[in-house]
Amino acid sequence: MSQTNPIGFEKKEVTHVIEKLNTLLANYQLYYQNLRALHWNIKGDNFFELHAKFEEFYNDSQLKIDEIAERILTLGATPLHTFSDYLAAAKINEGKDISNDILAVKLVKESLQTLLALERDVIAEAGKVDDEGTIDLMTPFVSEQEKTIWMLNAWLNGR
Ligand SMILES: [Fe+2]
Repeated sequence: MSQTNPIGFEKKEVTHVIEKLNTLLANYQLYYQNLRALHWNIKGDNFFELHAKFEEFYNDSQLKIDEIAERILTLGATPLHTFSDYLAAAKINEGKDISNDILAVKLVKESLQTLLALERDVIAEAGKVDDEGTIDLMTPFVSEQEKTIWMLNAWLNGR
């Protein structure tokens, strides 16, 4: 007898979607903590601009983290929720002792590039099982972050 979850997927068919969502969740948590640290530790001429921008980014990522975790629950699984699990799944570099503006913006840009790749992985897996709900959640993340990466590159201006 096939086992279906409450939204009609066979448990086995969404296993890979859930794994990819959990990897994304873990990396978002690293991104979030990196942003908190950059918000606190940034120094120099661009302090006021970047201090506020990093706060905007971490507030946005906090909402996305919650959406990803609750999608995992909707699919019938448990979201990763410990620092040790997050670090085990980390593809984003931890930023430690970064106070320089260019290094800070580069870390945010590289982190977003990693998240973008992970979101495309989720979309690819979800596409295999017609999981439109997950695709629908991911698509705006992708287009938003593509635009943010353009802006960060414009700020960096080749640096
Ligand atoms: Fe603050």
